[in-house]
This record gives sequence, structure tokens and C-alpha cells, in this order.
Amino acid sequence: MLSEALLVSAPGKVILHGEHAVVHGKVALAVALNLRTFLLLRPQSNGKVSLNLPNIGIKQVWDVAGLQLLDTNFLEQGDGPAPTPEQLEKLKKVAGLPEDGVGTEGLAVLAFLYLYLAICRKQRWSEEDLESINKWAYEGERVIHGNPSGVDNAVSTWGGALRYQQGKMSSLKRLPALQILLTNTKVPRSTKALVAGVRSRLLKFPEIVTPLLTSIDAISLECERVLGEMVAAPAPEQYLVLEELIDMNQHHLNALGVGHTSLDQLCRITAAHGLHSKLTGAGGGGCGITLLKPGLERAKVEDAKQALTGCGFDCWETSIGAPGVSMHLAASLDDPVRQALGL
Ligand code: PMV
Repeated sequence: MLSEALLVSAPGKVILHGEHAVVHGKVALAVALNLRTFLLLRPQSNGKVSLNLPNIGIKQVWDVAGLQLLDTNFLEQGDGPAPTPEQLEKLKKVAGLPEDGVGTEGLAVLAFLYLYLAICRKQRWSEEDLESINKWAYEGERVIHGNPSGVDNAVSTWGGALRYQQGKMSSLKRLPALQILLTNTKVPRSTKALVAGVRSRLLKFPEIVTPLLTSIDAISLECERVLGEMVAAPAPEQYLVLEELIDMNQHHLNALGVGHTSLDQLCRITAAHGLHSKLTGAGGGGCGITLLKPGLERAKVEDAKQALTGCGFDCWETSIGAPGVSMHLAASLDDPVRQALGL
């Protein structure tokens, strides 16, 4: 199995409503986007597999045959997403690491080896495998922002649209075909610092900030209701409701202190073209979403995109509700993706 290439893709995602509020136990609605990231693991023709982690100065090469010597049931011994102490000992041996005192770099090597073996031996992922991918993705999120709600990793793993609250999630059964414009302001921000900023504002002004969070919760619920209604009994007015919800939430997020002049600019530019936008995710820069309702004049969308790119932003038109993390056969991919991956 280790001799075959592995092709995996994961969807991009956005939070439609509920960012920040979700950290305080409120509902968030998140959707997977039809913008995917691909990963290709290809064993080299010389029977070796190599690991290159340039940021921490690690370059290692192992014989695939050496890795295959590990028990075939090696990974079945543990019951969680983390390796057992026995598995760790075996991995250290294969990786050529000392038995005691593995540093941070060594831990990174062990994490790679464990995931490589866990992923490469599978032809299909079971529900349990997806749980495991979700848990590992959550650990990655923790590195980036300390105490994440878990909504981002969940929607990227399972895809579609998720209602998420306090670790509990449910998929929205059916979704209308919604087009959005995703704009990256390219302004860097720290999710950790922004989440901490909301927390301190909540502690400082509980009477003011609690109702904002409650209102965001109600916006998420109303959005979920309207999305359901759009499938059952579509009507043009539903898009107007979605636009109003976007506007209200954007103002709330500004009141929470997670806005940014670049996001104000994004909202102003799209509003000048009759479109409605809000930040998505942590705010403070980063990305915003704009609803593209059906029947919009093409020229209007193109003008808005041109004005946004003129400010140095990147824009992508995409649709919501993409599949979650998936394995692919090279033959099933579109030509541009195959070319980009060098297949
Ligand atoms: O900007 P992102 O994709 O990291 O999203 C952050 C979303 C927050 O609600 C602000 C934090 C969280 O953990 O849910």
C-alpha cells in the first residue's frame, strides 16, 4: 500500500454566521466551499519516502520497505486518534530516534510517520477514520488559536453545512444552491488575540456584549430556518432576508471589536454594487463573504470583483455545500488540478 500514491483533498470553509459567538456557547453555521486544497503523497521511484519540514529544519528519508516491516495491525492496537506508548516506541525505532528525550523536531517526525502509516494503508475512510481526521485537525487548530470551538475542523472533515454548538453538530439535510464571493483582504491577524479581545470585552461590559452574542445566535438560527425554507418553498424574498442577516451580523461583529478597515472597505465596495458582505472567521482582516443572489447582472459582479482586486484583495466566486475531506483517483480529477499536481 505504501507503494501507491495517495491523493487527498479537503474543502475550504466559511462560517456563515456565529463566529466568536460560538466560542461562548452560541450556534454557528458553517459551510464547506467548492474550493479545494489537494495533497499528493507519492513514494519515490527509488523505494524511499522522504519528509521535508523546512520550517524546523527536518529532512529525513526512509526505506518504504522498512516502514512496511511494521506489523500490519500496528495501528489497530490503540483505540483513539493518538498513538499508544508501545506504538511510539516502535515508531521511534523505525525513525531512528533515541528512546528517551525526543525533542520537538523528533515529535514532528513521529507525528508524520504515524499519520503516514494511518492514511496510506487505507483504500477508503470509515466513519471512525473521519473522526480521527477531525480530531487531528482540531489539534492543529489548537496550535494556531489555543482554544478553538471545533467548528472549522468539523466542517472541513464532513463537508456540507453544519450547525455547531458546544461541540454538538448536526448537518443541514438539504441546502439551496448558494453562490458566494469569498474575498481575502490579505490583512494578517491572530485568531487567538481576536478571540481573547472578545472575551475581555465580554468581561468588561457583560450587559452590553451578552445581548450581542444572543442576537448573533438568533441570526444563525434565522439563517438556518431560511435556508431550509429556500429548499422547501423557494421565493426571491428569502435572499433579501439573508442579506439583512449579513448586514446585522457584520455590525454586531464590529461592535465586538473584530472588524478592520479592510473589511469596512470590502463591505463599502460591495454595497456600492448592491451586494451584502460580512467578515467570516476571526475578523481583524482575513476574509469576507458576499452573497451572490441568482439573477445578478454578470457585469455588476465583475465590476465588484475588479474594484476589490484593485484594493489588493483576492476574490473567488464559489458555491457552498461541498463534500468533506476525500480520497481521489488521479483519473477522476479535472485537467487543471492534475496538471498542478504534476500528474
Ligand atoms: O478565522 P478562523 O477560520 O480561524 O475562524 C475562527 C472562528 C472563531 O469563532 C472566531 C473561533 C472558533 O474557534 O470558532
